[in-house]
Amino acid sequence: MFDRISPSYDRLNRLLSLGFDLSWRRKILKYLPNSKTLTLIDLATGSGDQIFALASKHPFGSIQGFDLSEKMLFLALEKAKKKEIPASFQLGSALAIPTDDETADIVTLSFGIRNMTDRKKCLREIHRILKKDGSAYILDFSTPKNPLLKKLHNFYLTTMLPFLGGLLSKDRKSYEYLGSSIQAFPSPTAFATEIEESGFSEIKIIPIQFGIVTLYALKK
Ligand SMILES: C[S@@+](CC[C@H](N)C(=O)[O-])C[C@H]1O[C@@H](n2cnc3c(N)ncnc32)[C@H](O)[C@@H]1O
Repeated sequence: MFDRISPSYDRLNRLLSLGFDLSWRRKILKYLPNSKTLTLIDLATGSGDQIFALASKHPFGSIQGFDLSEKMLFLALEKAKKKEIPASFQLGSALAIPTDDETADIVTLSFGIRNMTDRKKCLREIHRILKKDGSAYILDFSTPKNPLLKKLHNFYLTTMLPFLGGLLSKDRKSYEYLGSSIQAFPSPTAFATEIEESGFSEIKIIPIQFGIVTLYALKK
C-alpha cells in the first residue's frame, strides 16, 4: 500500500494535517537527551520526515532509517541528499529489526505502530535494540477525549479524509484504511499498558493538539 501511495505521500501528509505534522514530529526534540553523538534509528521511516524534523535541529552521531517499502525508502534517500543530512536507509521490518542488541541511543517510530501486525513484537524489538539508558519515542494518532471534538474527529476520519485523500491520491481505499486504523487503535492508557508489558521502565504519555496525536516517550 505504501509503495502505491508514495508519490503523493508527503504532499498529502502536509495537506491532510493542515501543515501541523512537522510540529508534531518536532515535539520529540524537547525530550531528547542532551548529547551530540546519539545513535538514532527510525523505524517505519517512510519518506524519512521524522528523521529530517529531528536532524535539522539536533546533531546525531549516526542516523539510520528502516522501512518495508522500497519506494518510500527511495524518497527518503533523495530527500536526505537534497537536505545534506547524513542518514542511511535500508529495507528492514520493525518486527525483526536487522540490528544487534543494544545498539541505539534513540529509537523513533512515527505513525507506524498502527500499521504493525504485531504491536507487542515491535515493542520488544525496540526494547532489544536500545542501549541500557536508551529512549524511544512513539508518535501516532489518537482519539480526543472531549465529546464535541470526538464527534468532529469521527466525521473527519470517516467522511473528509477518504474523500480528500481519495481525490488527491486516486487511492480512496488507503485513506479509508487510515481512518479506520486510527479508530481501531487502543486508547493512550491501554497502549501504555502494552508498552509496560514489553519491559520499559518509564513511560510518559504526551497528548498533542487536543489529543488527536499522542507522543509516548519511553526509557529502557
Ligand atoms: C504512515 S507511514 C509513516 C512513515 C513515517 N514514519 C512518517 O512519519 O511519515 C507508515 C510506514 O510504515 C511502514 N511499515 C509498515 N509495516 C512495517 C514494518 N513491519 N516494518 C517497517 N516498516 C513498516 C510502511 O511501509 C510506511 O512507510
